[in-house]
Amino acid sequence: MPKLKIDGREVEVQQGTNLIIAALKAGVYIPHYCYHPLLPVAAQCRMCLVKVEGAPKPIVAACNVTVDRDMIVDTKDQQVQKLREIVLELLLQHHPVDCPVCPRSGECDLQNFAYNWGPQTKRYDGKRRLKGWKRVAKNIVLFKERCVLCTRCVRFLRDYTKTGGIEVSRRGFASDLVIFPEKLANGSNYVGNIIDICPVGALVDEATSYLPRAWRMEKALTHCPMCERGCTVVVEAWKGKIVRVKTFDNTSDKAEDHLYSEKDAIQPAYYQINGIEEIGELSYDKLYTQDMIICDIGRWDWRKFFFPRDSNLYSLENGTKEKIDFDSAVKISQRFFDFDKKAILVTPYATNEEMILLKTLAQKSSASISLLPPIEGQEDGVLLKKVRAPNFIGGKNIIGDVSYEVLQNVEKGAFDSVLYYGMGSDKSKFSPQKIKSNFSIIIDLIPPEGLSGIFIPATIPYEKHGTYTFEGKEKRIYPVYKTKFSEVDLFQKMVSALER
Ligand code: SF4
Ligand code: SF4
Ligand code: FES
Repeated sequence: MPKLKIDGREVEVQQGTNLIIAALKAGVYIPHYCYHPLLPVAAQCRMCLVKVEGAPKPIVAACNVTVDRDMIVDTKDQQVQKLREIVLELLLQHHPVDCPVCPRSGECDLQNFAYNWGPQTKRYDGKRRLKGWKRVAKNIVLFKERCVLCTRCVRFLRDYTKTGGIEVSRRGFASDLVIFPEKLANGSNYVGNIIDICPVGALVDEATSYLPRAWRMEKALTHCPMCERGCTVVVEAWKGKIVRVKTFDNTSDKAEDHLYSEKDAIQPAYYQINGIEEIGELSYDKLYTQDMIICDIGRWDWRKFFFPRDSNLYSLENGTKEKIDFDSAVKISQRFFDFDKKAILVTPYATNEEMILLKTLAQKSSASISLLPPIEGQEDGVLLKKVRAPNFIGGKNIIGDVSYEVLQNVEKGAFDSVLYYGMGSDKSKFSPQKIKSNFSIIIDLIPPEGLSGIFIPATIPYEKHGTYTFEGKEKRIYPVYKTKFSEVDLFQKMVSALER
């Protein structure tokens, strides 16, 4: 493995590693726009210039260099700094600098780089070039004047999704992005990634454009629960409402963390998002590969399934819905054990910890138990998996496969009391509306009609701690904010009551 020195820091990396990535591993951030690990190198923005000692041409674009043994790289050289400043001056000449209304403000590479390496004064005082805005796809708008023409979006659509849809027309100063909406309309599941891949605020998610500044939102680094792959995502919430799901590894996050912290380049992102314990979970190499994208279902469709969620608890006794507190819910739930024939149905959205507690409950109270059958869809050969639930594999390991016999008996009314832990009836092929029993504990997103017992609005995967077994591998999920109660607390209290 080649060993090299970057700004005096020694680092050993795999043969063929890109210099920008090698530098990150050494804790040195080389500013870049057009480079992206998932895309072919374009080397056109010239932001990543560095000095390589002994090279025939000493100032080179780092993105176009693969590391070699005994390389000595200087990213802080005076000439390099001057060139960076000039690149930024040119980019800013016709830029609207509308940061106060730009949704990317606070996580924009033009802002960050200008702050750290940009010119102190401007020399050009002529007219600004105006280009306007264009709709790119259903949820995406392009603000052309903010674009730094890095062509990441062009290359992503051409080389990754292979749909095309954005091209650069003309050359030099006249260069402009041209949109082919028909190509994007029939595009793949991954078009939404151009928003995160864009290093500035040019490509904007319309649904989340006018949210508060990025640094004011609560954030969690967790895993998408929309299929059994479990992509790494950043979930953002504002005032107790989840507002956005995006890829973790967009370059702005890294840049921001590096530039505004004293720590090394790559690690602080984890520290800042969720606290120290998350660091061990994601490996450096993995983050630079497929975890940099998510599918559009994970990015947008979760809204359809998970909202609105009511956070009150209800007693459903006597055919009326009455608000209750958590202690009353715990008390009422003990009635589950008063009946002889009991069944527990568990969503594949439940965490392993919840499933273990429910399995224990079933064993200790001689209740029948079954996993609920998940919704299935088309596997798309990139990320999206057939099973559209996060923990079907974990459920099969802990509880066993779906028991259609138990489900049919619940439908027939063969059980006196049923504990149904769902995640919105639209997320399973079995809905709580089918339950026939004297007493039921319904934990779900949608309150059922005409059932007797209690209704507890389920916490969604972005609101809780726990583990899911994605593709056979356990991954930890984290809440973006604190909820009033957790299902684990309820199940734990029910188990303790049985043990007394
Ligand atoms: S829209 Fe964004 S990603 Fe596309 S070329 Fe412009 S700056 Fe780059
Ligand atoms: S492929 Fe899509 S739905 Fe599946 S985990 Fe990744 S982002 Fe979520
Ligand atoms: S990142 Fe190297 S030239 Fe753009």
